[in-house]
Amino acid sequence: MLDLQKITQAHVDAYKDAVNRVIESGWFLQGKENQQFEADYAKYIGTDHCVAVANGLDALYLLMRGYKELGIMHDGDEIIVPANTYIATIIAITRNNLVPVLVEPTWENLEIDVNKVEEAITPRTKGVMIVHLYGRVAYNDSLGAICKKHGLKLMEDCAQSHGCAWKGVKTGALGDAAAHSFYPGKNLGAFGDAGAVTTNDAALAEVIRALANYGSQKKYVFKYVGMNSRMSEVDAAVLDVKLNYLDEDNKRRQELADYYYARITNPLIQLPQRIADENNVYHQFPIFCERRDELQTFLAEHGIQTLIHYPIPPHQQECYKDWNARSYPITERIHAQELSIPMNQILSTAEAQEVVRWLNAFT
Ligand SMILES: Cc1ncc(COP(=O)(O)O)c(C=O)c1O
Repeated sequence: MLDLQKITQAHVDAYKDAVNRVIESGWFLQGKENQQFEADYAKYIGTDHCVAVANGLDALYLLMRGYKELGIMHDGDEIIVPANTYIATIIAITRNNLVPVLVEPTWENLEIDVNKVEEAITPRTKGVMIVHLYGRVAYNDSLGAICKKHGLKLMEDCAQSHGCAWKGVKTGALGDAAAHSFYPGKNLGAFGDAGAVTTNDAALAEVIRALANYGSQKKYVFKYVGMNSRMSEVDAAVLDVKLNYLDEDNKRRQELADYYYARITNPLIQLPQRIADENNVYHQFPIFCERRDELQTFLAEHGIQTLIHYPIPPHQQECYKDWNARSYPITERIHAQELSIPMNQILSTAEAQEVVRWLNAFT
């Protein structure tokens, strides 16, 4: 599925130079490397601000915590969020004492059903958190219009969408603020945990920067009850190198996706719809099969690794017991049928051919 050793080898000298520069500087936190990466990533995404933090979950948490400190969100306010997301999106909402309002995705797009967003709005709704899952875009013009009409903050979870865009605007710059993860397996991955918030909102960026530094804007003076969520200088230096290769890597993923779309012909397997106006960066390549578990075993027997994203939806998790009796049929169907097949920038065409061969051989 993902050979991080091989992926790292592709530009290993550049990473060594970057890490050596940090070692020689003797400066490991809150230094020039963070400043440079923040400037370069903000430019890449197309926002005025980027605040580097320790991981994607913190980025999500700090984004909404920032809105709370600014008096824009309060305990008990509702945040609309897709029912089919990685648990971190939901944790960030509940840990802020906000209430996630789970909205079904569409089966065709796998992203939040924009037609259902407006019905989910109540007087307590303060924001919509979209998740660009699998590298697909979750935004469209009507979603932007709904948020504007109702005065809601449009927030993006970009953990899986580095480089993804809608009509040329990058995810991370489509709404009011966005959280990014640089977990090693992401399209833009660090050498450990790392994350960031991007926004054009200077006040929000300033609060988040303070919150991530114990709540301090001035040494030993604490304005907020903050946390320690900073990106290491090593990670910032490495990410700044990797950013140079992101578009090229995503292009290779798109070539492989074209290859899969043209050649996976097994009627037992369904491929997700391709969306006009989107620059899908294929963080994962999800396929769907009613006999998903049998298919996974069959592929494994023929040397093809796959992963399920994700086996249990958030509302059925033990940590959210109160929601376990709820029903979200489309979400549940996605979780029951989804299988992610190999997709990454170093996958060779010969390897993709093997994947296709065994997918088409499944009866
Ligand atoms: C959709 C989504 N949101 C948030 C996260 C959390 O990011 P992190 O692992 O950096 O905390 C992840 C992945 O890990 C994710 O896939």
